[in-house]
Amino acid sequence: MQAIVYTEYGPPDVLKLTEVATPVPKAHEILIKIHATTVGVGDLWVRNFKAISPRQFSMSLPMWFAARLIFGVNKPKINILGGELAGEVAAVGDKVTRFQPGDQVFGYRGQAFGGNAEYLAMPETGLVTHKPVNMTFAEAATVPYGALTALNLLRKVDLQPGQKILINGASGGIGSYAVQLAKHYGAEVTGVCSTPRLELVKTLGADHVIDYTKEDFTQNGQRYDVVFDIMGRSSFARVKNSLTANGRYLLASFKTPQLWQMLMTARAAGPKVICALSIESLADLTHIKDLVEAGQIKAVIDRSFPLAQVAAAHRYVEAGEKKGSVVITVVENHQA
Ligand SMILES: NC(=O)c1ccc[n+]([C@@H]2O[C@H](COP(=O)([O-])OP(=O)(O)OC[C@H]3O[C@@H](n4cnc5c(N)ncnc54)[C@H](OP(=O)(O)O)[C@@H]3O)[C@@H](O)[C@H]2O)c1
Repeated sequence: MQAIVYTEYGPPDVLKLTEVATPVPKAHEILIKIHATTVGVGDLWVRNFKAISPRQFSMSLPMWFAARLIFGVNKPKINILGGELAGEVAAVGDKVTRFQPGDQVFGYRGQAFGGNAEYLAMPETGLVTHKPVNMTFAEAATVPYGALTALNLLRKVDLQPGQKILINGASGGIGSYAVQLAKHYGAEVTGVCSTPRLELVKTLGADHVIDYTKEDFTQNGQRYDVVFDIMGRSSFARVKNSLTANGRYLLASFKTPQLWQMLMTARAAGPKVICALSIESLADLTHIKDLVEAGQIKAVIDRSFPLAQVAAAHRYVEAGEKKGSVVITVVENHQA
């Protein structure tokens, strides 16, 4: 099969279209013929993790160390990127019960990656389930990372109908699903992003949008029950005055000082800092599928590239101009 393989860290040019052996599913595995996968910020980081210093990394130092060990200190341990996928079951191991050949599926590989290829074998109990019937393969491939992460992190604040949430980073991979899920929970949503993506955030359902290049939301006099900062670009010192008395400052990206703030605020009266890691489950993916089929979550695709042009897709994402998801179509002209 063909796959986009990289054997050294570096710029997009390290990603090469290569002929590799097609995996054979083990007894409890399914072989997926991938129709679509994506390029997101995680792919960019892992492609060149050697160059990412602890300072540049958006998480704490111990997590940077752990990531270096997982991804490889001097050379990548994972050679095929692509954390999200949608496709069709091509074959099943002889103990598989959940799937049969021909089933249309979508899934998430997280740090295991492997989606930038024509085929992938994964356990039937992994983060893979039947594709939402109302999405194309390309649309379905864009959902898992952002929707699963947003779902898991928003759970930490138990958002209630009528509560006000501000999402800082509302146009990105996680934020675009956080906006939709918060609306689904009945919250009043303010989305923060830069000028070119304000319209996108409105189409996702945000009640209000703020352009961070023109306005500092901590100075607008509003109070929110939750401020969800995806990239950790704000600070508790500034956000505190934008939170209600029991407000929560939820961080997807955090370093050691924010972990201390979480400890310090946990037992004290007043707003709380919550640093959370997303731990996804198959039940979560199934829940996301149900929400998609109920029309509560939609995908927004910016551009698609064929498999052979994954390097170009990385360059495009790296340029920072995408408005929505960047899809890699592995099977061209496929049906919805
Ligand atoms: N806690 C967890 O379990 C977990 C899991 C996965 C990822 N993460 C973290 O999540 C982050 C990636 O999130 P993502 O995939 O959503 O990234 P992304 O797709 O790159 O989106 C980044 C978002 O941040 C916005 N942004 C950039 N600069 C900003 C600023 N100065 N002020 C406010 N917003 C700003 C962007 O808006 P514009 O594009 O309009 O500029 C965009 O909406 C990483 O830091 C990663 O470590 C955490």
